[in-house]
Amino acid sequence: MSQIPKKILEEIEKLREEIEYHNYRYYILNDPVITDQEYDELMKRLIELEKKYPELVTPDSPTQRVGGKVAEGFKKVRHSIRMLSLDNTYSEEELKKFNERIKRTLEIEKVEYVVELKIDGFSVALRYKDGKFEQGITRGDGITGEDITENLKTVKSIPLRLRKKINVEVRGEVYMSKDEFNRINQERMKKGLPLFANPRNAAAGTMRQFDSSVVARRNLDSFIYYVIDPESHGLKTQSETLKFLKSIGFKVNPNYIVTNELGEIIDYWNYWIENRKKLAYNIDGLVIKVNKIEYQKLLGETAKSPRWAIAFKFPAEQVRTKITGVTVQVGRTGVLTPVAELEPVQLGGTTVKRASLHNFDYIKAKDIKIGDTVLIEKAGEIIPQVVKSIKELRTGKEKDIEVPTSCPVCGGKVGKLKEDEVAIRCLNPHCPAKLKRAVEIFVSREAMNIEGIGEKLIDQLIDKGIVKDIADIYYLTPFDLIPLERMGPKAADNILKAIEKSKRSPLHKLITALGIPFVGSKTAAVLAEHFKNLDRLAKASYEELMEIEGIGEEIAKSIVEYFLSDKTKEIISKLKKAGVNMSGEAKEEEEKSLKGLRFVVTGTLKNYTRSEIEELIRKKGGMVSNSVSKKTDYLILGENPGSKYQKALQLGTKVITEEEFEKMLKRR
Ligand code: IVH
Repeated sequence: MSQIPKKILEEIEKLREEIEYHNYRYYILNDPVITDQEYDELMKRLIELEKKYPELVTPDSPTQRVGGKVAEGFKKVRHSIRMLSLDNTYSEEELKKFNERIKRTLEIEKVEYVVELKIDGFSVALRYKDGKFEQGITRGDGITGEDITENLKTVKSIPLRLRKKINVEVRGEVYMSKDEFNRINQERMKKGLPLFANPRNAAAGTMRQFDSSVVARRNLDSFIYYVIDPESHGLKTQSETLKFLKSIGFKVNPNYIVTNELGEIIDYWNYWIENRKKLAYNIDGLVIKVNKIEYQKLLGETAKSPRWAIAFKFPAEQVRTKITGVTVQVGRTGVLTPVAELEPVQLGGTTVKRASLHNFDYIKAKDIKIGDTVLIEKAGEIIPQVVKSIKELRTGKEKDIEVPTSCPVCGGKVGKLKEDEVAIRCLNPHCPAKLKRAVEIFVSREAMNIEGIGEKLIDQLIDKGIVKDIADIYYLTPFDLIPLERMGPKAADNILKAIEKSKRSPLHKLITALGIPFVGSKTAAVLAEHFKNLDRLAKASYEELMEIEGIGEEIAKSIVEYFLSDKTKEIISKLKKAGVNMSGEAKEEEEKSLKGLRFVVTGTLKNYTRSEIEELIRKKGGMVSNSVSKKTDYLILGENPGSKYQKALQLGTKVITEEEFEKMLKRR
């Protein structure tokens, strides 16, 4: 440090101050006093100096905003006070009740409120020490959040240095503008990456990135609205707080009113319902806060939210558009969902081209046709749905939406699982759309009970084409597994062992695992008990099945159909080849017959080679040693025994013949 000229130290400090000031002018006040080019010059000079003197780089230097630090995970951090959420209301009625309750508690006639916009983003807590940004935390569960400091440093409107050297903790919202959201999604579309559903998801997803340089490229923004312990900063009201926040360098949303008239709040609400489209970012309502901090304290909070504030949410935004066609999606449980193809419209800041029609009963009940002008809205602001069709605008050219008679993915039969169910499902158990779910069932505890194969792994195995049917599970190799996400040689080995073990599952579990429509674990047990092996079940006729107690028409038909399918035959032959138990003997139990016993073998045996008998002992759960010791339970004696026999006699170890050993296997 001592070699660094004082002049340099001063220049660096001055550059940082200046850059932070111009950030403030640009991002907070929206009133820059220098050109972009001049700003870039300052930044360039600072980067140059920091390159030359890397020991002078500090965490609050503006150069740190470009990101680059890759976190391995986020540290958990406890919040200094609970980070609450808000109670919601959607109607004037409820707002009135909120106002009445407050008046009653405070015993006053009129309450002054601050009415702010409810920013649809990702809430964060920011900690500053001596005016320097120290730590940024996600909300988490409200008690502990995660340290996302490096990511937050890349958000240009979050000051790295405040305009006052104070200790303060603030809270607010990080969000993505609609433009930025569209830009990123367009880029993702070009790259074939999955699209973000809305700006809020995009902001939240971005904030959880481990690589802060990715965050830096996403141009997030912020609005801050809350100070912890306002009184310690001399603040008496929320409106003073907002001004204070702005004065020390935070970006505060300029749209808010202070009023004690409910009517004004409702007008303001209606105004923003009409005008929210014009904002560069999404809002999902207003937040109404008691202005006086003293009153806020008196009112206190419930387990979930403050009693002094409420979110006055906007009704779901609806727009009109036209249905140009209907496609049918098949979900992993085989449910067929009709989806309306739409003339693209803007809704809640995103372009909507498709919307859910729920199911075919819904279409019928609401009388929706192709060519109809419809109202669409976002359910929970995420998945758009068709609310209703506007019959007055029909031209007569509208077409009925056909109920599918076969699965659009596999061409298989469709139908309802239960009479009173609305959903129509693909009934083909081998339908590729259902494969993920089929594998989940196959590995589940009730079925083959293969531990370690969870939803994420199944997704990868199927998406990468490694598993094309349930039997492929038995053909997995370490080469398939190790390259997958969150998988190492150890985890892969454990999974392969679990798969191997599952081959010995009893027959009723295998029948459950096949996922034959209408055959659950109880029916599977009845079938296993009756048929004793899978081949016999596979050959069973409808009449034969119908004779079994507990098997009805529907189940019997389904079983016969299942085993007639070529795909079923292929799967069963693959399972057999892999060595999966197909018979009723509960091999699982038998397996353990020698559990915990130690054997030593000596001499030549009649029916087994040395390695054959050792393998058999191990398979049955026993252990094999090379020499007799006190721990040995049995010595198996062949012809021409060696010194082991002497040792066994000395120690009093039990000595058995090959025949006795075989009896022991059967007995146990
Ligand atoms: S005040 C205890 N003000 O909405 C203070 N919240 O649904 C509670 N939000 O968790 C927060 N804009 O993340 C407040 N102007 C605003 C807000 C706002 C958005 C978020 C915040 C909160 C959530 C509740």
